[in-house]
Amino acid sequence: MHHFDYRGGVLHAEDVAIPDIAAAIGTPFYCYSSATLERHYRVFADAFKGQPARICYSVKTNSNLAVVATLARQGAGADVVSEGELRRALAVGIPPEKIVFSGVGKTEGEMAFALETGIDQFNVESEPELELLSALAAARGLTARVAIRVNPDVDAKTHEKIATGKAENKFGISWKRAPAVYARAKDLPGIEASGIDVHIGSQLTDLAPFEAAFARVAGMIEELRAAGHQIAHIDLGGGLGIPYRGDNDIPPHPDEYAAMVKRTVGHLGCSLTFEPGRLIAGNAGILVSRVIYEKRGDDRAFLILDAAMNDLIRPTLYDAFHEIRAVAEPAGDAEQAVYDVVGPVCETGDFLARGRRLPRLQSGDLVAIMSAGAYGAVQASTYNTRPLVPEVMVRGDIFQEVRARPSYDAMLKQDIIPSWLD
Ligand code: LLP
Repeated sequence: MHHFDYRGGVLHAEDVAIPDIAAAIGTPFYCYSSATLERHYRVFADAFKGQPARICYSVKTNSNLAVVATLARQGAGADVVSEGELRRALAVGIPPEKIVFSGVGKTEGEMAFALETGIDQFNVESEPELELLSALAAARGLTARVAIRVNPDVDAKTHEKIATGKAENKFGISWKRAPAVYARAKDLPGIEASGIDVHIGSQLTDLAPFEAAFARVAGMIEELRAAGHQIAHIDLGGGLGIPYRGDNDIPPHPDEYAAMVKRTVGHLGCSLTFEPGRLIAGNAGILVSRVIYEKRGDDRAFLILDAAMNDLIRPTLYDAFHEIRAVAEPAGDAEQAVYDVVGPVCETGDFLARGRRLPRLQSGDLVAIMSAGAYGAVQASTYNTRPLVPEVMVRGDIFQEVRARPSYDAMLKQDIIPSWLD
């Protein structure tokens, strides 16, 4: 459920007409609905009422401070993967006690900063990382609360580039090696390894892989406890998918996911952490773009937009499907055409959709690329020296730019011509 609907024949974000935003700031731009962000957060949180669960929003999904602040006001904690993301979470007032730090390559500097900040949990992904964290914590007279991220060797049945739970993936420590790592952690100063962490991938549309991974974690906890380890916390990561194709592919509801969690790990008496990202932000954002040209080739028709792969890389990187809507609602009997929807970037991989049936469009028309709130703006670049795409947030009948489009002057000033070329 989201708050992007046609009203009076025009696509709106909540109570704001999309063409009004386009007129004010130009295109392309991302537009977020704060009501949708809040709603998705609540649906997920409500699913876990009665379970000892906390929600640490995965900041990488959409790290605009306006988005993170909106969720912080709802009570969200944060899952961060870099010092930059940690600083974003802190900047909007998320207390360190609600922050967990994930990632395979935390540097010494990042871990030192996180320790000094007093974050709640380090999700440790390798033995060298554990040793370094111990040294850094002990040197400061601190104790790092650690969850060992285990790799359960489970196929998440999602796109290969976003599957993280197989033995061949770089993530986590083999579940077979985990007992030895907990034993080592017990001997290390500055480490309290009282948690276990798992995250097998993103955009999972079936509960079975989750259930297999969580059951493996439950078995491991029993084994670890039998070996004398006090395991009190489970971090089950994120990964629950969202519908990208309207009503045709509805993934399991958070209520079903929560029931499965209870079934697999509920008896262990552990506190639970979740790191949802896409589920909260995905359908809370759209990318709005203007048609530059409609071009009829020998083989097919192209709709050339002013948004491109540098603004939304998901279609070309993950073969992702994003619904595309005309901002002016097409009449039921409107002429249709099949388009490759592309951008101006000089690469054949620059497309937002291929072979897509849409109402016939022409230069100047606005389109909305739906479900673009997760892994959209955060993965944008300035390739082809295109200004970084701006972001807007809507609340009711007001909208505000939450990241402005940089000027060409500002972009060019980032580079420095070396003195020997003066
Ligand atoms: N926790 C960890 C440790 C993660 O690596 C991720 C996502 C999440 C939580 C949040 O997962 P979510 O609930 O959003 O599925 N750029 C890709 C997705 C990359 C996911 C990376 N990790 C895409 O556009 O599909």
